[in-house]
Amino acid sequence: MQTVEANGANIPAIGFGTWTLKGDQASTLVEHALAAGYRHIDTAAMYDNEEAVGRGIKASSVPRDEFFLTTKVWHADLAEGDLQQSAQSSLKRLGVDAVDLLLVHWPSKTIPLEETIGALNDAASRGLTRHIGVSNFTVSQLKEAVKISERPLICNQVEYHPMLNQELVLGACRAQGMAVVSYCPLFRGGELFANDPVAAIAEQYNKTPAQIVLRWQVQQDSVIAIPRSTNTGRIVENLDVFDFVLADEDMKAISGLGKNNKRLCDFEFSPKWDVA
Ligand SMILES: NC(=O)c1ccc[n+]([C@@H]2O[C@H](COP(=O)([O-])OP(=O)(O)OC[C@H]3O[C@@H](n4cnc5c(N)ncnc54)[C@H](OP(=O)(O)O)[C@@H]3O)[C@@H](O)[C@H]2O)c1
Repeated sequence: MQTVEANGANIPAIGFGTWTLKGDQASTLVEHALAAGYRHIDTAAMYDNEEAVGRGIKASSVPRDEFFLTTKVWHADLAEGDLQQSAQSSLKRLGVDAVDLLLVHWPSKTIPLEETIGALNDAASRGLTRHIGVSNFTVSQLKEAVKISERPLICNQVEYHPMLNQELVLGACRAQGMAVVSYCPLFRGGELFANDPVAAIAEQYNKTPAQIVLRWQVQQDSVIAIPRSTNTGRIVENLDVFDFVLADEDMKAISGLGKNNKRLCDFEFSPKWDVA
């Protein structure tokens, strides 16, 4: 499996996203993903599925030190003490001693960043996580967090797919040696898959549209993608993107869709996004 090196961490370039998966379905699909070769699982305290994800991990025969596990702390729990408590509870639900990556899920509008980043570093010092990072941080928030943090931040997990130009965030992460973990990496399928250029390029390479989009993701420097699927066949398909290379002109054609500037995750608690 291709990995991305980010400030001392090695992160598998494709991970299995678990948002909206619940209960037995989540357990079965996590077990299936690990059996299919995934070595990177993404969850969050807010997904309300950590226990189920933990059951899937336990049911799989993959040893704990052979896969990369990420969880996140919700923005209401970012105060000193609350953050560490959230991480402890996540570990208990997941049934693991530590995660590989603990993320601030969204920046808080009320809790000072300095307090949060201090607590995040403390969680790592206590051995609750091997690495720390952030999610949904703008460029200025990212620069501030990097300045404050004693330990290196290894990624910013942000919405990134062909329909959204994220050059500013990508540039800021690369400048700090950090990875970008793309969420909603497939733009949830639909119109992106049905239309050109993705549909035409898929036909040309004899791959599915999802494979073309995921290949476009992992062919970019420092980019990791965490697609989710409830379909066992598509879970296998989404990992099978390492045996071909997109030509520069095809990469550019797909990137050209970024001018649509379409965002799927924009909530009342979201920061004011950078627009490239
Ligand atoms: N940090 C954050 O704030 C944040 C926010 C959003 C998401 N995330 C993370 O990112 C992960 C992925 O994002 P997402 O789940 O929102 O979106 P996504 O992965 O872009 O899209 C998932 C959708 O695409 C479909 N799909 C998957 N593989 C396919 C394939 N090969 N062919 C056709 N359709 C396919 C799935 O349908 P089927 O199930 O029918 O296959 C599902 O409806 C989440 O699960 C979560 O772990 C993080």
